[in-house]
Order: sequence, then structure tokens, then C-alpha cells
Amino acid sequence: MAPDTILNIAELRSTVARWRAAGEKVAFVPTMGALHDGHLSLVLLARAEGARVIVSIFVNPLQFGPTEDFARYPRTLKDDVEKLKIVGADVVFAPAAAEIYPIGFQTSVINKKMSHGLCGKFRPGHFDGVLTVVLKLLNIVSPDLALFGKKDYQQWRLIERMALDLELPLEIRGCDTVREKDGLAMSSRNRYMSAEEREESTLIYKGLSAARAAWQGGERSRGKLLAAFSDSISRCPRMTIQYAEIVDCFSLEPAIGQVADKNLVMIVAVLFGDVRLIDNLEF
Ligand code: PAJ
Repeated sequence: MAPDTILNIAELRSTVARWRAAGEKVAFVPTMGALHDGHLSLVLLARAEGARVIVSIFVNPLQFGPTEDFARYPRTLKDDVEKLKIVGADVVFAPAAAEIYPIGFQTSVINKKMSHGLCGKFRPGHFDGVLTVVLKLLNIVSPDLALFGKKDYQQWRLIERMALDLELPLEIRGCDTVREKDGLAMSSRNRYMSAEEREESTLIYKGLSAARAAWQGGERSRGKLLAAFSDSISRCPRMTIQYAEIVDCFSLEPAIGQVADKNLVMIVAVLFGDVRLIDNLEF
């Protein structure tokens, strides 16, 4: 059955209230649409919990910088609903911007620490925009479980932190990154790449894998592990590393000198022209 598309908050809340009254578990997958198998894997995991599944599709203006891709971000609601029908979502929540940010809206969630490094350094305000919309969506949906991809590792950890800090009564779950056959992490932004860039983009996962292989082989020098990644990227002169860091997977504090023996993740952002790709690998 095709999922119901709900556009307003009141209707969504009354649907969830009916499920709750019937004792059903509610799972939530927030997205910005242009759905691919990475998004759909989250829906399938939610279904496997026996839960009712709500997927939100909302391109959140608050999390885009003034020079970022808000205007050209792909909007493919009809296709998205078709895909969600196949994986069995119950409801698509697709509010207009005015439903989420009515005139007079002026409150924000600000993370004071973990949002400052990694992507946060290059996208000022981005994570506050993410946290604000996610908290708002969680308050609208009031799910038992919300699922996020580790593809956006810093985002997932920040949301987990917000749930702890603000006592949100739900489980936040991080789920494995879904990749193309050649290793590229699936992303709605992959479609911005030319065929040539798409081919070269496999160097990102190759570089991460080389670094992890070195770590598994006993290498503990931060510099040498980062070099294993940058050696791979340097094979494509048009590709530049915006940042590459090895961090503690919980606190996202960078390793210095020698890296620890466990709980590490390497997180990277790479640019080619105006395409920006992020990826990471847990060691
Ligand atoms: P979006 O980029 O659409 O991603 C929605 C969810 O899908 C996020 O939890 C993201 O980490 C996950 N995801 C994306 N690609 C994935 C992949 N290849 N494998 C597994 N999961 C993947 O992230 C956002 O939207 C927004 O910031 C949002 C949280 C919806 C707030 O606006």
C-alpha cells in the first residue's frame, strides 16, 4: 500500500495518537528526500522492529549556508513516495517550510562543543540548523525510535548528544552506511557529479580503506594514517581534501600524535569543484 502523505502537524499528531492508543511502536526516519538505498535501509531497519514508520521529507532551509545548494537540492517527492511504498513506510510527512517555520519563529538549538570541529568548521551554523529541525520534528512525531545514518557521523553523534542533554524520551540509533558497489557512500548529492568525477570519487573510500588497513596492520601514527588517505586522493589532481581527521568515535575529539587502540573513526570531506562529499570509516 502507498504511504499516506501528510502535510500538516495536527494531522500527523492525530495519526500517531491513534497508533499509540493501539499500543503500536513508532519509528521515525527524518530525511531531505531524493531518497536512495541508504535512506531506504533506515526504513527497512525500522520495519524490522515491527514499528509503524514515519519518514519526513523536508529540505530544511535552516541548515544550508548562504552559498550552499539549498535552491538546487533535488526535490523528487513523487519518486520518493514510490520508493517508500516498496519498502513499506506508513506515512510520509512532507510539510511546507511555513508549517515548520511560521512567521515569528525565533528559537534555535545550539550545540556548544562537538559541532565546532570537522564539518562544523566549514559549515558555520549548519549543525544548529540540523538540531533545531530534528528536535522540532521529534516533538511533532514523538517516536519511540529515530534512525540516523552513520554516513553523517557528526550529525548522528550530535543528535545523540542532544537527546541525552535535553532528556528526549526516545532511542536514537546510528545505522551503517550503505555504499555503491565500488565503495562510494550513497548520497543525494552524488548526482551533482559528472561521469568522470563519479569514477574518481571511489578514491575516497579507497583512501579510507587504506588508512584502516594500515591501522589494522599496527600503524598508530596519526600522520601516517592520514597520509594513507591523502595518497589516495592525490591520484586525482582535481580533488582536494577539505579536512581529514581521526577522532574518538564518541566525543569526536581529534587524535594527536599516536592514535588510541580502539573507538576511532576517520572522518573526511573532499571537494571537486563545487561538489563536496563526506565519508568516514570506523577503525
Ligand atoms: P539526508 O541527507 O536526506 O539524510 C537522511 C538520513 O539518511 C540521515 O540520517 C543520513 O545519515 C541517512 N543517510 C544518508 N545517506 C546514507 C547512506 N549512504 N547510508 C546510510 N544512511 C544514509 O541528514 C539529513 O538528511 C538532514 O540533515 C536531516 C537529519 C533530515 C535534518 O534535516
